[in-house]
Amino acid sequence: MENKKVFLPEEPLILQNGMVFPSRVIMSPMEGIMNSPLFFRTVCELSLADFWMPPFQGISPHAVPSPGALRKKYRIYLESGLPFFIQYLGHDPAAAAEAVRNAAAAGIKGVNFNFGCPSKTVLKSASGGAVLKEPLLMEKMLLAAKNAVPGMTVSIKMRIGYSSFKECKTLLNIVKNTGVDFVICHARTVEEKYSFLSKDAIKERMDMAVEEAGNIPLFGNGDICGKEMADLYFSCGCSGIGIARGLLKDPWILERLKNKSCPDVSAGRKRFLEVYKNSLSGKKGKGTYAECIRLAYGEDSEEFRNMIRENRKG
Ligand SMILES: Cc1cc2nc3c(=O)[nH]c(=O)nc-3n(C[C@H](O)[C@H](O)[C@H](O)COP(=O)(O)O)c2cc1C
Repeated sequence: MENKKVFLPEEPLILQNGMVFPSRVIMSPMEGIMNSPLFFRTVCELSLADFWMPPFQGISPHAVPSPGALRKKYRIYLESGLPFFIQYLGHDPAAAAEAVRNAAAAGIKGVNFNFGCPSKTVLKSASGGAVLKEPLLMEKMLLAAKNAVPGMTVSIKMRIGYSSFKECKTLLNIVKNTGVDFVICHARTVEEKYSFLSKDAIKERMDMAVEEAGNIPLFGNGDICGKEMADLYFSCGCSGIGIARGLLKDPWILERLKNKSCPDVSAGRKRFLEVYKNSLSGKKGKGTYAECIRLAYGEDSEEFRNMIRENRKG
């Protein structure tokens, strides 16, 4: 195997179509948290991200949001000036093509397809991670999406396989022939959901995925909560990394990994939650705020219990 290039988190990434990622560490979407405008405003106020991809928008043959609906729903992201991608969840090639056309008409520069969600409801609807069980359907979807609007950045977010990580060989081999611009790959399979993965297992899996992805930039994802794990992914040759749950534990993690000056982890977490709390008005955003505290401190923490008590008092 040839020597892998080890990228630096703070290096920009330029895709084949000219799109530029300001850095190689991005937020990975979280349904129930990142779809809150208050969460987004907090992230912007504290300058914690340089790329934004909110959680998935479902699509099906008779339900693809129009350009007008997309402009309305995603207005704050479009107006923020941050590079912004929409994430779609579905399984129909014609709907995928229409979704890309509508996104372009709404002024959205990049589209991502979710082939990773392991939730029962999503799998039942044959979308998310379930698409990995049908590589030829996945190929059709991506070709339809890629051909729908020339120049549009089309990407995917996938689990490394459905039942076995070795499926990434077939899957990524297909993906790289569709012209997809980049891939975000979670090291677990769909069936593994969120079960424990050792560092050695992550290394073996990511080495394989990066090799199979060839020239397509591959962002690694899964359990990155600090420099050690970030370095592990970059040592596999990943072009970048995506971070989800770790963001609540250390809201400055992306900046920290880029060697910027940041508050320490516990002060940063407090500051983030303070700014978030100050933007709450009435009940709006309270549920998401509670979820942020749960992920930041854990369900058994004093902070989470206090918040539940406060919420009960009204
Ligand atoms: C509450 C929650 C909601 C999520 N929602 C989405 C989503 O909408 N789209 C998506 O691609 N991934 C979603 N994910 C998966 C994460 O983006 C990420 O791939 C996964 O959590 C592994 O990364 P982590 O270990 O950094 O959390 C979600 C994860 C969590 C925990």
